[in-house]
Amino acid sequence: MEERASILLEALPYIQRFYGKTLVIKLGGTLLEDEELKDSIYQDIVLLNYVGMKPTIVHGGGTEISKEMEKAGKKPEFIEGLRVTDEETMEILHKSLGGKINKEIVLGLNKHGGHAIGVSGMDGGLVQAKKIESKSGEDLGFVGEVEEINPSITQYLLDEDYIPVIAPIGADKEGNSLNLNADIVAAELAPSLEAEKLILLTDVPGVLEDPNDEDSLISSLTLEEAQKLVEDEKITEGMIPKVQACVKCVESGVERAHIINGETPHSLLLELLTEGGIGTMIERG
Ligand SMILES: Nc1ncnc2c1ncn2[C@@H]1O[C@H](COP(=O)(O)OP(=O)(O)O)[C@@H](O)[C@H]1O
Ligand SMILES: [Mg+2]
Repeated sequence: MEERASILLEALPYIQRFYGKTLVIKLGGTLLEDEELKDSIYQDIVLLNYVGMKPTIVHGGGTEISKEMEKAGKKPEFIEGLRVTDEETMEILHKSLGGKINKEIVLGLNKHGGHAIGVSGMDGGLVQAKKIESKSGEDLGFVGEVEEINPSITQYLLDEDYIPVIAPIGADKEGNSLNLNADIVAAELAPSLEAEKLILLTDVPGVLEDPNDEDSLISSLTLEEAQKLVEDEKITEGMIPKVQACVKCVESGVERAHIINGETPHSLLLELLTEGGIGTMIERG
């Protein structure tokens, strides 16, 4: 009995520290494939909300989108890690990312007693984006980067005690919708909401010294160290935008950014409410 009480008490200083604070949490696409895992993540988010924190969710959906593309007879194509997005793919994105996946997360959070509302970066002008091409100058279709965040819709929802669930689709000034990287959207949103933390939930333990060795976790990185890892090409693929996003976010004033393993059951509770952090923490050196 005493042991259980002491476990609960361990959380007290963390609950006090994060009470009333905004946490921007990004859910990686692969995590949303596993029913049991999804449920435990939703429980954690709702619990954090009920003890006074303000979680704001940004989600990916890569695997599901690729599946839907294949169903429609389209072959997913990536250039420098970015999905080539023609008009038909954009339609799939609206249906799948902005529709099915977004609403599934809302339903899941609400099932556990949360009050979640699904929006996309297009709603309320939340994410103004502009079209980009690949570094080597190839056309990527409707792929964009964040130009400006107007967080008022999100702030409004948080002030009213809702949990915003954001699909990473933005709009440009001409009214085109654009496909955005969810890590970057989360990282740009966090400083605009004066968030306490950015937490990227993914399918690896964090930044690894050797991507093939799960035991080579780098548990903390300064901004300089993180940048050096990108420059030295120690990280590749989807980890590149994650580390870059964390660096940008901390540079913009958010104290800490974390990359953690969403496949570890209750990783959010462990990271936020216990003494030992998990994953990789990026902070100013
Ligand atoms: N040094 C590294 N440490 C950890 N992961 C890495 C590293 N380099 C590349 N990766 C890759 O980055 C992936 C995470 O990015 P991504 O697939 O986009 O996940 P998400 O759906 O969470 O955005 C990992 O599964 C891993 O394959
Ligand atoms: Mg990714």
